[in-house]
Amino acid sequence: MEQRSVPSRIGTLLVGAGFIAEVHAAAVTASDRAHLVGIVDTDPGRAAAFSRSHGAIPHTDDLAEALAWPDVDAVVACTPNHTHLGVGAAVAAAGKHLLVEKPLATTVADAQALAAAFAAAGRVLMAAHSHRHHGYGRTVKDAIDAGVIGSPAHVRLSILGGWIWTGWDAWAADPVASGGHALHNGVHVLDLATWWLSADPVRVYARGRHQTAAELRINDYLEMVVEYAGGEVAVLEMSRAHRPGSFGLRDLRVVGSAGMISEDWADEAAFLFTEGGTGLVAAAGVDGFGAQFESWLDTIGGAPPAMPVSDAVRAVELAVAVEESVSTGRPVELGVAA
Ligand SMILES: NC(=O)c1ccc[n+]([C@@H]2O[C@H](COP(=O)([O-])OP(=O)(O)OC[C@H]3O[C@@H](n4cnc5c(N)ncnc54)[C@H](O)[C@@H]3O)[C@@H](O)[C@H]2O)c1
Repeated sequence: MEQRSVPSRIGTLLVGAGFIAEVHAAAVTASDRAHLVGIVDTDPGRAAAFSRSHGAIPHTDDLAEALAWPDVDAVVACTPNHTHLGVGAAVAAAGKHLLVEKPLATTVADAQALAAAFAAAGRVLMAAHSHRHHGYGRTVKDAIDAGVIGSPAHVRLSILGGWIWTGWDAWAADPVASGGHALHNGVHVLDLATWWLSADPVRVYARGRHQTAAELRINDYLEMVVEYAGGEVAVLEMSRAHRPGSFGLRDLRVVGSAGMISEDWADEAAFLFTEGGTGLVAAAGVDGFGAQFESWLDTIGGAPPAMPVSDAVRAVELAVAVEESVSTGRPVELGVAA
């Protein structure tokens, strides 16, 4: 493993002072290897308010100004999806490391451009695919890697929510700003299934609905089928359209040549079904965002990435293919854009 010389505490700048920035700020504050050195938001009032509630850290509405602050080693970008390319390009040009919220970008070309910018700058880029780090994602991956179900062949994963976005004019409901439901939310399950299967996706077929209201500008419910090179299949469902609005359900099965893992929303443990009987797989009970932040710090220090950039680009490719399949009604072959 390549060891890099890094400061004992990584000076971490947050960009975007909204909902998810609070979760990342908690991960930075909880770490003994990093500290918060500032906040940037294009809305100066939001930047100032965030500063007030986080120890009066420096704040500005100008990213270029903040990137020149001497104690900034790395950046966590918590801005809307379509801004990731612009923010990321500035961070790479400034020679800083970046943890950027998912999706890496809203188009395959933008995702590839970000990957190239960080490769050229020799800095660490990681997309915040938080579900890889949550207990359930890790538990399933560890069990598959331990061989308890043999070769994984089939993933069935549903994440169903009843909460629609904050309002009709929210950026997340804007197809350009969010990239649509597949890039905004579907990208989580598309990445997880592909990571669990360790397989190359070759074809995507998807259907979508504006289930909450016909006037919604993006789909809020998706059914997605991904086929892989070795014949593996993922059947995925992602909803923000279930009623009542408070509803939330996660349901997963991973079937392999020697058994099956099954887990529900409770996160307490996964069930293991094999010819030898039924058992439990202990849950990897972790704070997903804390684990994600620590693994990014590990990678800055030279460890192999928990979320390689190529996987983040592939997740964007999958999500873009889902959007295309929904709009054309046809399966989409992958790898054509790469
Ligand atoms: N991993 C997860 O589970 C998860 C959950 C929620 C959101 N997210 C992601 O986090 C990101 C932010 O989502 P959110 O819900 O916190 O959004 P939000 O709307 O609550 O906050 C976004 C903030 O960014 C600011 N902003 C917009 N453009 C900017 C720019 N160019 N430079 C600096 N600031 C800018 C806005 O003023 C706002 O304060 C998105 O990429 C989203 O997909 C991930």
